Amino acid sequence: MYTQSFDNAPPVAAKADDANPEFEARIARDESIEPNDDMPDAYRKTLIRQISQHAHSEVVGMLPEGGWITRAPSLKRKEILLAKVQDEGGHGLYLYAAAETLGVTRDALIDALHSGKAKYSSIFNYPTETWADIGTIGWLVDGAAIMNQVPLCRCSYGPYARAMIRVCKEESFHQRQGFDLLRTLCTGTPEQKAMAQDSVNRWWWPSLMMFGPHDSDSVHTNAMAWGIKRISNDDLRQKFVDATVPQAQFLGLTLPDPDLKWNAERGHYDFGAINWDEFWRVVNGGGVCNQERMHDRIKAFEDGRWVREAAAAHAAKQAKRAIDSSMKVAA
Ligand SMILES: [Fe+2]
Ligand SMILES: [Fe+2]
Repeated sequence: MYTQSFDNAPPVAAKADDANPEFEARIARDESIEPNDDMPDAYRKTLIRQISQHAHSEVVGMLPEGGWITRAPSLKRKEILLAKVQDEGGHGLYLYAAAETLGVTRDALIDALHSGKAKYSSIFNYPTETWADIGTIGWLVDGAAIMNQVPLCRCSYGPYARAMIRVCKEESFHQRQGFDLLRTLCTGTPEQKAMAQDSVNRWWWPSLMMFGPHDSDSVHTNAMAWGIKRISNDDLRQKFVDATVPQAQFLGLTLPDPDLKWNAERGHYDFGAINWDEFWRVVNGGGVCNQERMHDRIKAFEDGRWVREAAAAHAAKQAKRAIDSSMKVAA
């Protein structure tokens, strides 16, 4: 689903002996950096951390919604949700593959997630309590993901940028299906509308947290200078609020922020203070679902081990057969 711009690991700063004028010049010319190109070690490490954190978020993001596939209220909604959750798995795969081009193994990345060393987006540590949450996640969480990921299509690292182009197309479908689900609830019975409102009340603030700490509180990295990140956390958050408020009005839903109001002078919506204590508590393992999510992810990984081993054995057998038959032809 998406990378969160938090950074509670030590910053990967460029070292003096890491200076690479040719690389800096290529970045300044907006050239795409490819896997075999010369790049500073700190650039490589920053990308590995960001892309793998993004991949983990996609895969863990399958869990809160996956539990609703069997409870979807119609065949149509079940098909849509199945497709969406499957898309998220695909996003994880593109991203793990993109990270691997930087010289890290997938096993190492997955070990880091399972051991708790690597983070994923804190939004997935909130529970999905009602069917309306599936709509709200699509509308707000995938909506925030799009806001964050569209600029990544212009990221300086080629494999990441190219993965993002396809991911963004699919995220756009995710956002629309969520909005459509909520629109259906909001034009339904009073109970359905109340369920939608309750859901938005619970997800609004965590969605704003998805953009990460204020720019003034962010640990400095070279991500902006290196063209990995193109727009700051606060600017992305403001864009999201400005885009989302009219959509809430269209749905007839309120957003749970008494300070939310149009500021004609700024040409943007003003909004209230984010609870950063909650943000860090959830990032650092204190959310309602942190333990459940990791338990389920590790279990899914272990349960799927025999499938991966069988697929690898089958591929090895096919490869051996291909070699044997080509040798026969040669003989
Ligand atoms: Fe998504
Ligand atoms: Fe995704």
